[in-house]
Amino acid sequence: MDPTQSVKTAASARPSAPLVSLARVHKVYGGTLLGVHALHDIDLQVDRGEIVAVCGPCGSGKTSLLNLAGLLEPATEGSIVVASLLVAKLSDQARAELRGDLIGFVFQSFNLIPVMTARENVLLPLLLRARLERAALAAAHARADLLLGELGLATHANDYPPRLDASQCQRVAIARALIARPRLVIADEPTSRLDHGATRLVMDLFARQQQEHGTAFLIATRDQRQLSRVTRTLQLHEGRLQGVATLRGRRPLGAQR
Ligand SMILES: Nc1ncnc2c1ncn2[C@@H]1O[C@H](COP(=O)(O)OP(=O)(O)OP(=O)(O)O)[C@@H](O)[C@H]1O
Ligand SMILES: [Mg+2]
Repeated sequence: MDPTQSVKTAASARPSAPLVSLARVHKVYGGTLLGVHALHDIDLQVDRGEIVAVCGPCGSGKTSLLNLAGLLEPATEGSIVVASLLVAKLSDQARAELRGDLIGFVFQSFNLIPVMTARENVLLPLLLRARLERAALAAAHARADLLLGELGLATHANDYPPRLDASQCQRVAIARALIARPRLVIADEPTSRLDHGATRLVMDLFARQQQEHGTAFLIATRDQRQLSRVTRTLQLHEGRLQGVATLRGRRPLGAQR
């Protein structure tokens, strides 16, 4: 497939193609001479049905890597291909469209909208996509409430973020990333504010999405509690990917490797 083709045909084309593929990618913030070289020569591919964990200490480049894979930031060097489209060739609008169609993002700092209720925050990706018919809107509300319930937030659907604690806000952000059934969920330290029980709820939900829908996950974490569910673990150290380990017995759906 031509990687410069239109976004419209990309989402359905070649379901076996990698969802996201980074080749020889560098990220430098603030100019190449005096800037911060946050990522060095990154090669990474995420396929359908994988749960990939990116581990690394504070400042190792986890958020930078996720922002590049999630089309929120451009690479300084190297190529990023998402759903067979070469991202650097896309217009801003096409890139936003591709991100909206394909990717659900859990931000490290949640990025909830304070003047919207928990349910409205969760519904946002669907409301941004298109004007929903009445029946579709009812179904979207039901799915938002289902996700909030699965994350232990059934009684908080009508609460505004300022009234929620950090654990509850983080779970609202997770529900928002899943509402539109994205093929790829990119989650930046999604359990950093959760206790053991809530972490298990989240990882069980991720695993169910993976098993039932083939959803892929790219998760940044410093939290070893997440690792029992992942199919592949990558280590970042000072912006370089180091060891790559595939956990035995946890192959992605349909994997040939
Ligand atoms: N917008 C930016 N401008 C300048 N430097 C940045 C920017 N974002 C990140 N950096 C720098 O890039 C490096 C990697 O940062 P990044 O946030 O990707 O790491 P991280 O692994 O996510 O850290 P943490 O565990 O604290 O979330 C750090 O040196 C950081 O200071
Ligand atoms: Mg980070």
